[in-house]
Amino acid sequence: MCGIVGFTGAAPAAPILLEGLRRLEYRGYDSAGVAVQHEGAIEMVKASGTVEHLAEMTSNGAALEGGCGIAHTRWATHGAPTDTNAHPHLSEDGRFAVVHNGIIENYAALRRELEGEGYSFASETDTEVVAHLLERYYDGDLRRAVMRTASRLEGSYVLGVLCACEPGRLFCVKEAGPLILGLGVDENYFASDVTALVGYTRNVIYLEDGEMAELTPESVTVYDRTGREIPKSVSHVVWDIEAAEKGGYEHFMMKEIMEQPRAVKSTIEPRIRSGRVELEGLDLTAEDFARFRRIVITACGSAYHAGMVGKYVIESLCRVPVEVDLASELRYRDPIVGEDTLLIVVSQSGETADTIAALRECKARGAYVLAIVNVVGSTIARLADCALYTHAGPEIAVATTKGYTTQLSALYLFAVWAAEKLGRIDEMRYNELVAELSALPARIQRAIDLNLHVKYLAGRWHAQRAMFFIGRNIDYAAALEGSLKLKEISYIHSEAYAAGELKHGTIALIDEGRLVVALCCQTALFEKMVGNIQEVKARGAKVLGLAPEGDRRIFAEADDVLFAPGGEPLFAAAPEIVPLQLFAYYVARENGCDIDKPRNLAKSVTVE
Ligand code: AGP
Repeated sequence: MCGIVGFTGAAPAAPILLEGLRRLEYRGYDSAGVAVQHEGAIEMVKASGTVEHLAEMTSNGAALEGGCGIAHTRWATHGAPTDTNAHPHLSEDGRFAVVHNGIIENYAALRRELEGEGYSFASETDTEVVAHLLERYYDGDLRRAVMRTASRLEGSYVLGVLCACEPGRLFCVKEAGPLILGLGVDENYFASDVTALVGYTRNVIYLEDGEMAELTPESVTVYDRTGREIPKSVSHVVWDIEAAEKGGYEHFMMKEIMEQPRAVKSTIEPRIRSGRVELEGLDLTAEDFARFRRIVITACGSAYHAGMVGKYVIESLCRVPVEVDLASELRYRDPIVGEDTLLIVVSQSGETADTIAALRECKARGAYVLAIVNVVGSTIARLADCALYTHAGPEIAVATTKGYTTQLSALYLFAVWAAEKLGRIDEMRYNELVAELSALPARIQRAIDLNLHVKYLAGRWHAQRAMFFIGRNIDYAAALEGSLKLKEISYIHSEAYAAGELKHGTIALIDEGRLVVALCCQTALFEKMVGNIQEVKARGAKVLGLAPEGDRRIFAEADDVLFAPGGEPLFAAAPEIVPLQLFAYYVARENGCDIDKPRNLAKSVTVE
C-alpha cells in the first residue's frame, strides 16, 4: 500500500528519494511523485504509472535540484490513479507539499470548510485538505502548523510535510500506519518501511501513533501530540540490502519460495535448546496458562490460513478450544473475549490495519496478546504483550510464501511448547514432536526437490478458467492457502472446500475437464478423500492429487500427481504448501501475469 520517503542532507534528494520509492514498489501502487525544495520554492513531478516512469521524467532525479524532499507511491483510495491525484499535493500558494498514507475520514467536511473559505482543490483526494490546512495555519512556525493541522484530522494517516520557506527542514506525523526515521551522518530520512532505508542507514527510530518528528540534516527531534519533546531509542536493523534483492531469480516470489528451508530454520532452530522448545519472551507459567479458557487466533489473508492450521494443531496437542477469526470480522462483532482469552495475532508485516484494530479491541477487553510477526518493531509487535518473531527476512513478493510457512512454524512451536506446559503430552511424544520440528526445514527442502515437474503440470493446466482445491482437516486449511496463491497471482478463479462439503452444493460447479486439486496428506483420512475424488471424477473432473511421498495409492486415483515428503501429519501443511506455491507461480508465469505485483493488490494493507 502507499509508500512514503523523506530525505534531508547535502546530497541531491531526488535520486535518493527515487531509490527509496523503488524499494517500496513491492507494497503495491499505481502512481508516484516527488517534491524537493529549491531556491525557496517547491519543485514537483508526479504521474500515474511506475516509479521507472517517474525516474524517466526526471532524468533519474537529476532534473530536480535540492537536498531536501519527500516522495510517494500511491495506491488509490479516494479518486482514480491519475496524474492529478498522485501525491505530493500542494497548498494553493505552492509553499507546502504533502504526502500521505492512510485515509482521512473527515476529509469531506474539511474540504467543504476550506472551499467555503475560498480554497480551491485540484484533486479528488482526501489528502489535499492537509496541504490547504497547513497553508491556513502557518504563521512562521512550521511545527505549530503541522500540529494544528494534525489535530483537525480524523482517521488513519502518516504524513510527510515539506515547506518552501523552511530550508532543509522536514516534518512527518504518524497516526496509524508505519513510519520509521533513518539516522545518517549529516543526513536524515523517514520512510514507511525499513527496506527504503537499509541502503543508506541501519540506525532507525520507530515512531508510535500520535508522534511527530522534525528532521534537519543534523538533527532528529520527536514530539508527542502536545508538542512535548520525547526521547526515543535507536534500533539497529539487521536486514541488509541483498536480502531485499532478487539474487538472480526472475521473481521475488520464486526467490522467497526457495528461501523457505532457511527461513523456517531461522524460526525454529534458535528456539530449540538441548531438545526443549524455549520461547523467549513468552514467560507464561503453567498456572498463567490455566487461566486461559480459550484461544482466539486472528489475522487476514494467508496469515488467517496459517491460523486455521494452528487451530487444528493446537487443539489436537493442547486440548484447548481455539477459535480462528478474520480480523476484519472480529473487530466489529463485539467478541466474547476477556482475561480468560489468549489472543494470537498473526501477521507478516505487523502493519495490517484490520489485524491491528482486532488486537486493540481484544486487548481492551483484557485478552493477553501473543503476536506471531515477521517485521521487528512493527505496530503489532509493539502492541502485543509478547512477540514471537518469525525471522523470515524481508518478504517482497505480494503473494506470501516464506511468510506463511514461518508463521506455521511459529504456531507449531507454540503448540508443542503449550502442550508440554499444560501436561497434555508425554515425554515420548514431546521428544518426537521436537525432532519433527527440527526436521521441518529439510522436509520443506525435499518438497522443493520433489516437484521439479510442477512447471510441466502448469503448462498442462494453465488455461483452466477455474479450479477447485479440496482437502480434509489440515489439508483443508492448506487448500485455502493453495487456492489463494493461485487466484491472487494468476487471476484464475479458484475456491477451496472442505472435501466433505462438496456434495452440499459446490459439486454442482464441477463440469467436464474441470481441474480439482485434491490434498491427501492427512493419511488417516486418505480413504475419505478417495471417496471425494471419485465423486468429482464421476462428474467429469480431472484430478491433480497431492499425497505424501511414496504413497503410491494416489496414482490409481488422480490424473496427475504432486508429492510432499511424509513425516508428522500435524506439521504437513508446511511441506505440502510448497508444490502448490510452485504450481501457482508457474501457472501465473505461463499466463504472463505480473507475479510479484499482482493487479489491485498491495503487500501491506494498512487501510481498512
Ligand atoms: C497473501 O499472499 C497476501 N499477501 C495477504 O493475504 C496477506 O497474507 C494478508 O494481507 C495479511 O498480511 P500480514 O501477514 O502482513 O498481516
